[in-house]
Amino acid sequence: MNLADKFIHEHKLNREEYIGLLQQFERENAGTNTKSTLANYLAGEAVRLRRKIYGTDVYVRGLIEFTNICKNDCYYCGIRKSNPHIERYRLTKEEILFCCENGYDLGYRTFVLQGGEDGYYTDERLADIVRTIHSAYPDCAITLSVGERSYESYRLLREAGADRYLLRHETANPEHYQMLHPAVLSHENRMQCLQNLRSLGYQVGAGFMVGSPYQTTAHLAEDLVFLQEFRPEMVGIGPFIPHHDTQFADHPAGSVKLTLFLLSVIRIMLPHVLLPATTALGTMDPLGREKGMLAGANVVMPNLSPVKNRKQYELYDNKICTGEEAAECRGCLAHRMNSVGYQLVSDRGDCKS
Ligand code: SAM
Ligand code: FES
Repeated sequence: MNLADKFIHEHKLNREEYIGLLQQFERENAGTNTKSTLANYLAGEAVRLRRKIYGTDVYVRGLIEFTNICKNDCYYCGIRKSNPHIERYRLTKEEILFCCENGYDLGYRTFVLQGGEDGYYTDERLADIVRTIHSAYPDCAITLSVGERSYESYRLLREAGADRYLLRHETANPEHYQMLHPAVLSHENRMQCLQNLRSLGYQVGAGFMVGSPYQTTAHLAEDLVFLQEFRPEMVGIGPFIPHHDTQFADHPAGSVKLTLFLLSVIRIMLPHVLLPATTALGTMDPLGREKGMLAGANVVMPNLSPVKNRKQYELYDNKICTGEEAAECRGCLAHRMNSVGYQLVSDRGDCKS
């Protein structure tokens, strides 16, 4: 049996086999206008599985980027602490609640609170915000994406009503991790945080950037093996996109085709996974999110942040959807999803496993 068929049959491979699969993809994409038959083959199976489990529904997550203040210095990130060229902001509790109100009226039943690691948001302050959203919108899921915190902090936030947590592992390879982050950040702690979140009963999201600086095929294979073993409920992947004010400004962006291929691989590996077609994918290709659906994705994360702050949450250059009101973003995405045979649904969108 060839590797692709073995993977489709067993939903898993080992590290060397993933390297082989990725190399086959790379060979087929070596020319300029070549169409990868492997990518098409796996996309067909990924879409079949996604349709079997989730039909043509697309879950919507209202993303509230509530602070761009961060104590960290991740080398790739536009809002890292050492970037002096951005205007910093943090939303008040009232502004966050207003975003939720707006989102609820638009049919969103999941709110994602994302931000830098901003010390202002102590456990008490953040738990208070989570608690207030939870009691105002008991039919909605609350997702947090606020980086590495202590076990106790994650516990308090979970008790306050948070259901899900997105913390991309960024790379499963510790040496590669250190090439992307300063020494104070460790791969070990990142992984420990993911384990802590899981043990506290969160639905957990891991993930990585495709084409991050120094990433090799072997690193990607290790990312896939990690996902296969950890089995997160959500996986966020999108192309790395350079930001002009970071030390990776001159590194090339990640490939859209490889991102789409990996979306299909992840859908086959974890058929029930919640898999977004990310804003980064839409930034690299005007039809990126539609193509993401056709590769096996089933989630989109339109922006609910106040328009006045959107440009300030610039993780990478040319980020899309920074000028539109939330209602316009929703309308635009509804249209985009319809154009490829899918529809946005008003649902919490929990993992069906
Ligand atoms: N501070 C939280 C954390 O570290 O998980 C959440 C915010 S962080 C900005 C969210 C994600 O943005 C990161 O996990 C990273 O993968 C992604 N990101 C940051 N810079 C990026 C870039 N230049 N291109 C693509 N994605 C990027
Ligand atoms: Fe903290 Fe990017 S370095 S959010």
